[in-house]
Parts: sequence; structure tokens; C-alpha cells
Amino acid sequence: MPSSQPTQPPQSDIATAARAPAIERVPREKLARSRVLVVGDVMLDRYWFGDVNRISPEAPVPVVHVQRQEDRLGGAANVARNAVALGAQAGLLCVVGHDEPGECIVKLLGESGVNAFLERDPALPTTIKLRVLSRQQQLLRVDFENTPAHEVLLAGLARFDALLPEHDVILLSDYAKGGLTHVTKMIAKARAAGKSVLVDPKGDDWDRYRGASVITPNRAELREVVGTWKSEDDLRARVTKLRKELQFDALLLTRSEEGMTLFTDDGVLHAPADAREVYDVSGAGDTVIATVAVSLGAGLPLVQGVALANRAAGIVVGKLGTATVDYDELFH
Ligand SMILES: Nc1ncnc2c1ncn2[C@@H]1O[C@H](COP(=O)(O)OP(=O)(O)OP(=O)(O)O)[C@@H](O)[C@H]1O
Ligand SMILES: [Mg+2]
Repeated sequence: MPSSQPTQPPQSDIATAARAPAIERVPREKLARSRVLVVGDVMLDRYWFGDVNRISPEAPVPVVHVQRQEDRLGGAANVARNAVALGAQAGLLCVVGHDEPGECIVKLLGESGVNAFLERDPALPTTIKLRVLSRQQQLLRVDFENTPAHEVLLAGLARFDALLPEHDVILLSDYAKGGLTHVTKMIAKARAAGKSVLVDPKGDDWDRYRGASVITPNRAELREVVGTWKSEDDLRARVTKLRKELQFDALLLTRSEEGMTLFTDDGVLHAPADAREVYDVSGAGDTVIATVAVSLGAGLPLVQGVALANRAAGIVVGKLGTATVDYDELFH
């Protein structure tokens, strides 16, 4: 009698997946010609630092005496900043309010080298995430946000049409704050104009991203849409089905400490995480999508863009806060 062991196809896993190519040095001038238009939700990351010496008489909570404030560009603005740091040209189309955080974003963008195309909505509180810290410890985060008005978003769509011919790649950075209400139309227009469209998604309705060239979810974001996968083969099957349904040329799954995996019609490529030391992983996803977009805008193949993005992510997680990687660091 032959053995009754079931004959199963060999299971693939991350360790045996095909590897992304080694990175090649790209001339500075080549990246400098890359023109990326970032559209999406901007926010201000604000930090208040202070001492705590007593408990409030009003409620059992610490009283922070604020001594210092630090402001940083967040969301789509951080993505645009990452593209500029690599030496590319970046435009940013987004909505901000007519308030103090809005002015702060205008000022920081002015210093950043990003070409800002801002729609102002007087009724909108600019999205701001305020962290209160004492002795390196976060005590509280306070979020202010709302959805921009309809007319303002339509004005943004008209501006998008005008900006499209001046850019090589369109990058849609969705943080679910309403800035990408017209995302489906933007993708259709950009693809009709022959541009690559990259999407950093949010939420479970990906039908709105139909037709995008490359979509870059993290593990939780992908799980929300395709469910939990049981193996690498299962993951590949779920992603293939999704890509077919929604007509994505490629899906780049960022997997934190596991690196990133690219799914296309040519197959699956994996890039293991490249970090030497990990201090702060926030914003690594922004660096990844910005690097891929800059690479495509410079005319590099997608797999080379992924290899560069993996190197850039490995560098940025070694820095504090939402940071950027510049040309010299990437190609040292
Ligand atoms: N803990 C880690 N160790 C090594 N590399 C990491 C780690 N976390 C992130 N990275 C690198 O950064 C890339 C993007 O990280 P991740 O998958 O966490 O994206 P993300 O969740 O979108 O990040 P964020 O939304 O905070 O910007 C990973 O593909 C990997 O290359
Ligand atoms: Mg992310």
C-alpha cells in the first residue's frame, strides 16, 4: 500500500519568496526631474512639552506647565516633504482651515520646498493632533478635525485638472479626513492622461480607488479589506483576486518588521526589513510611498522603486518622529 499521506503542494513562505533586486545608484539629476503631485489630507502634528509638579484640585489629573511647543507637517504634507528630501519636485493639493494651525501649516510648507496648492475652507478646523508630553512620556493626545465643505472640494478637483499635466506621478494620501472625497474621479482623470497613480488607502471601501496603478496598504489596512490570511499562498490568492476586481496594477504590502511585499502580474517579490536600529516607526509608510512615487516619476522600474523604498524605510525608522531621508543617506 502506498502511504496515505496527502500530497500537498509545497507552501511558500516569506523566507523563500523571490527577493526584490539590489538597489542601483540613481543620478541626482534624474530624481530632480521627477515631479510628484500629492493630494490628500494634511495635518499638523503639535507637541507640547512641560513639567508636572502637582495634581489638579479640580480632578485627579496631572497639571502640565507647558514650556515648549513643536510643530511638524503631518499626513499628506509629510509625504510631500519626503519626496522633496529625496531631491524631487513635489506639489501638494489639500484643504486647510482659516485658523492658527492652518497658518502654521502654510508657514511650514513655505519653508519645506513643497509647492503648496492650498484650498482654504473658513468653516473647517484644520486637522491637528496635539500631544502633551512630560519627561518623554505622552500624557494625552487631543485631535481636532472635521470634513471640508463640498464647494471647497470641488474647487480642489478643478485645480487637480490644471495641475495634472505638470506632474509625472499622482500620489493620493488618504487619512480619511474627507480631502479625497473625489478620489475615484482623480484616478480616472490621471490614468486617462497616462500618469501613474499611487494610493495610500484608509478604510474598508477600496472601490473608490478602482484603477489605481499601485496601492500601498499596511497589514491592518489590507486585512480590513481581504480578511485574515492563513499563509503566504493564501495572501497571494486574496491579493490576486482583489487586484483583478479593482484593477490595481500592483499592490505593495508594507509589513513593518517583516519588510514589504510587491504583488503584480509578474509575481510576488519580497524585500526583508532593512533597519539597523528602530527608534520610531511612525511615518515610515509615508516615506515608502513617497520613494516609490519619486522613482516612478524618474522613469525607474517599479521593482527598483520598491528596493529604494525599502532602503529608505530602513533608514527613517532609525530617526525620531515623522522624519525624512535625503539623497545622500539613500545612496551613501
Ligand atoms: N519595526 C520595524 N522594523 C524594521 N523595519 C520597519 C519596522 N517598522 C516599519 N519598518 C519599515 O517601514 C516600512 C513601512 O512600515 P509599516 O508597514 O509599519 O507602514 P505603516 O503602518 O503605513 O506606517 P505609518 O502609517 O506609521 O507611516 C516597512 O515596510 C519596513 O520596511
Ligand atoms: Mg500608513
